[in-house]
Amino acid sequence: MNILLIGSGGREHAFAWKLQQDNNCKNIFIAPGNAGTALLGTNLNIDPCDFAGIAQACIQYQVEMILVGPEEPLVKGIYDYFKNNAATRHIHVIGPSAAAAQLEGSKAYAKDFMKRHNIPTAAYAEFTIENYTDGIEYISNHPLPVVLKADGLAAGKGVVICQTTAETLAVFESMIIQSKFGEAGKKVVIEEFLKGIELSVFALVDGKNHVLLPEAKDYKRIGEGDSGLNTGGMGAVSPVPFATKAFMDRVKNKIIQPTIEGLQKDNLEYKGFIFFGLISIDGEPVVIEYNCRMGDPETETVMPRIKNSLLELLLATSQQQLNKIDIETDKRAAATIIAVSGGYPGEFKKDQVITGLSNNIPADTFIFHAGTKITDGKTVTNGGRVLAITSLSPTITEAVTSSLDTLGQIQFDGMYFRKDIGFEFY
Ligand code: AMP
Ligand code: GLY
Repeated sequence: MNILLIGSGGREHAFAWKLQQDNNCKNIFIAPGNAGTALLGTNLNIDPCDFAGIAQACIQYQVEMILVGPEEPLVKGIYDYFKNNAATRHIHVIGPSAAAAQLEGSKAYAKDFMKRHNIPTAAYAEFTIENYTDGIEYISNHPLPVVLKADGLAAGKGVVICQTTAETLAVFESMIIQSKFGEAGKKVVIEEFLKGIELSVFALVDGKNHVLLPEAKDYKRIGEGDSGLNTGGMGAVSPVPFATKAFMDRVKNKIIQPTIEGLQKDNLEYKGFIFFGLISIDGEPVVIEYNCRMGDPETETVMPRIKNSLLELLLATSQQQLNKIDIETDKRAAATIIAVSGGYPGEFKKDQVITGLSNNIPADTFIFHAGTKITDGKTVTNGGRVLAITSLSPTITEAVTSSLDTLGQIQFDGMYFRKDIGFEFY
């Protein structure tokens, strides 16, 4: 079977790496991919939201399945585009319909879904220009801190945690009146601040059945000890020690099952990954957000822990046969550390030559590329997040040490990484 992966990050390299371990996976195409995916398949220079271009490539290369990495093409309706086109209807698209992708595409939609289906989440209200003055009053009476969320996709920047009422009012005005996040911020969700410890839980859903993948915890802040600016993710670990069987049973009963039943009740077509961004408040799981795709860097952490063939999992998803699948997990811990360009998440340089990638690395360490490309035969940096190094070891501490050892052999000008990924669990 020929498969097309959409995206260009570490997540997509990890998917490609996992897929090519199955002999039934004939050719892998990646649109647009990076220098790492080019080692495992054929990169196609097509934008993830150019559906006509993707469809044409699928026909040309006899692609039978598409796995969509990032949220934007899903929210813009890639699933529906392929389904509603006679020439592409036979191609399995792994991902939700546009309607179901609203769980990530609109915070207000997701909150309403959770309210309707009795799924635990933070208390909230939503505002637009129409009820702007009600919003001001709501903020004036709200305890602090308080969380403001631009409704639509905002490349991970649409959530602001405000510490004072003055700051909250200023952010609210910048979103609604000054359109700081464009269309995405014309509606704002104002939410109660939850205090607890976060984790990411992933399910693969076929519309009826689901399987649970290993959970992970990602580290979003740029600085050690979770300090400084938010990033796309600086690393992740799996398993998460506080995700005990009792905790995960609560997650299944109170969150996952009601979400999947809710999708069915609301007639939302969903054949793909659901990412539950959760927070544990004294052992009680509460939903912070839904994502309609796998996480990055969590995919780089979770894929090496799954023993099943990814191709078989995806086929069972599209054929609605996930009830026949048991997920087999590697009991070892995985730790992923991201190497980023100096200056990220602010401004950074690109085109820096990366050395040390072909050094001997241990069998249980994997180098996934994120922002990389090949220029004049050399691998160079091409983004903020550059590489994801994952190691499997008996403990989180050993896995982190192994990833750090490998990072010690890799260099590019300005390279930075956190040395404390998983620090709560050492
Ligand atoms: P999101 O863009 O929805 O992933 O939110 C980004 C981050 O903001 C989350 O991962 C949390 O760390 C934080 N966050 C979002 N909502 C809340 C909340 N209600 N209480 C506390 N932190 C939150
Ligand atoms: N790691 C968080 C995300 O992928 O959105």
